Amino acid sequence: MNTPWTPWLEIPLADYEGHMSLTTIGQAQMVATVFAELIGEFSPSSVAVIGCAGGNGFEHIAVETTKRVIGVDINPRYLETLSTRYAAKIPGLELYAGDIQDPDLTFAPVDFIYAALIFEYVALAPTLAKLKAVCRPRGVLAAVLQLPSAATASVSPSPFTRLQTLTPVMNLVSPADFLAATRETGFLPLAAKKIVLPSGKKFAVHIFHRPEKKNTL
Ligand SMILES: C[S@@+](CC[C@H](N)C(=O)[O-])C[C@H]1O[C@@H](n2cnc3c(N)ncnc32)[C@H](O)[C@@H]1O
Repeated sequence: MNTPWTPWLEIPLADYEGHMSLTTIGQAQMVATVFAELIGEFSPSSVAVIGCAGGNGFEHIAVETTKRVIGVDINPRYLETLSTRYAAKIPGLELYAGDIQDPDLTFAPVDFIYAALIFEYVALAPTLAKLKAVCRPRGVLAAVLQLPSAATASVSPSPFTRLQTLTPVMNLVSPADFLAATRETGFLPLAAKKIVLPSGKKFAVHIFHRPEKKNTL
């Protein structure tokens, strides 16, 4: 598999998690809370978390219900830590290190895909095509997008200065572009909501389903 260079490969997980969970930032808690609410609502028997980092939110997975849990991340060291944290607690854990856009990175389709704060770092069309390929018919895709804001920096300033290396490679995706691309790929919208954090940063949660294949006679 080809793993292109990205600043993500050089950001220690401790820096990423330290940054995201600062009370002034609060994004780790937001991403985990949305995940907990959605898996509570859909009770999927299999889940894939794309850009899973160290497993933020995995503590909410009910292993009696969710028998397969896939984590994908481009940074293999993040997955090593995730495995240390969760391999004994989640028997059906499968971890894939690599670029989600890589055609060689694949796994058996799942009922529910959670892709939070990853679309800012990938090309929409190939990533959505991959996610459709690994989403079962009638499965669900939930995405969290960071929304543009004139009042806040794309990457919030913090003592974890290595996070600033992401600024040049981060591209915020507008909900309009995202909805058009998901429609083009074949996902149908189910629901959407906006989240505004105390920092002023805004996020959109979009939920889609992959329709059942139609019989063609
Ligand atoms: C902003 S973080 C989101 C992490 C996580 N969803 C959370 O709870 O905070 C983006 C994650 O996606 C990973 N990533 C970035 N580009 C990727 C790619 N092309 N394929 C797979 N993972 C990628 C990064 O290593 C990082 O862990």
